Amino acid sequence: MLSVQKASTALGAEILGVDLSKEPDERTFQQIVELWHKHEVVFFRNQTLTPEQHVAFSRRFGELEHHVRTDVCKPGYPEILVVSNIIENGKPIGSQDAGLFWHSDLCYKAEPSRGSLFYAREVPRKDGEPLGDTMFASMTTAFDALPENTKKRISGLKAVNSYLKAYHCDRKSGQRPPLTEEQKKKVPDVEHPMIRAHPFTGRKCVFVNEGYTIRINGLDQAESDKLLAEILAHITKPEFVYRHKWQDGDFLMWDNCSTQHCAIADYSLPQRRLMERTTLRGLAP
Ligand code: SIN
Repeated sequence: MLSVQKASTALGAEILGVDLSKEPDERTFQQIVELWHKHEVVFFRNQTLTPEQHVAFSRRFGELEHHVRTDVCKPGYPEILVVSNIIENGKPIGSQDAGLFWHSDLCYKAEPSRGSLFYAREVPRKDGEPLGDTMFASMTTAFDALPENTKKRISGLKAVNSYLKAYHCDRKSGQRPPLTEEQKKKVPDVEHPMIRAHPFTGRKCVFVNEGYTIRINGLDQAESDKLLAEILAHITKPEFVYRHKWQDGDFLMWDNCSTQHCAIADYSLPQRRLMERTTLRGLAP
């Protein structure tokens, strides 16, 4: 059995003793999958991976997404989204402002992502301390802790997620080009149940978020805003959150159904941050 160290009460665990550059055998791989489903976020320290190894390991979980923002994918690797504040030849090499709000990846698609595999190549530091942490919240634990009447009230409801909401919000930083009409067509608004069953564990997960959810169907906008605000305030309470402090070489996998995450932009150049993400295709809720 693999050794594991829990990272917080609600979610997150470090898996010890695995070198992902040497393709894990099937038994080890299945243990990683089980641990991931159980802890919702798992990570491996001190990994040294080529982009090919990152993609090959990710593919063992199934098909990979190609992000709508081709301008921030790693050249030659359409499956790798670069999250970075580094500028080369006057151009950003990745998304400089990805995910600075609570969200789950690709929840704005009809088939939201199953999970994301994030590799920390360069972590910014100040006085030896890492910056640019990422917070993760457990949507299973948050669901379990909802008052029974709220669970009942939202269980049959659907909400609309919009890629444009978060994109326009991020554009205020001035770091994003406007979306082309062709890009917009690829990401129409979608409707998902507010509570969805996890496709592998069956556990119930809250599936609305600050970044992309714009309204709850069947309610007028004021009522929808009020209920949404109530749910969003609940699901990111500190007791449901694990805050990951990155180290160079961390390889971390988050589940996009049972968790949400939020990146913290508390660094700036010359403090460099370079992270690379693959995104697993998922199933419609
Ligand atoms: C993301 O939401 O994919 C970015 C997370 C991060 O930069 O920590």
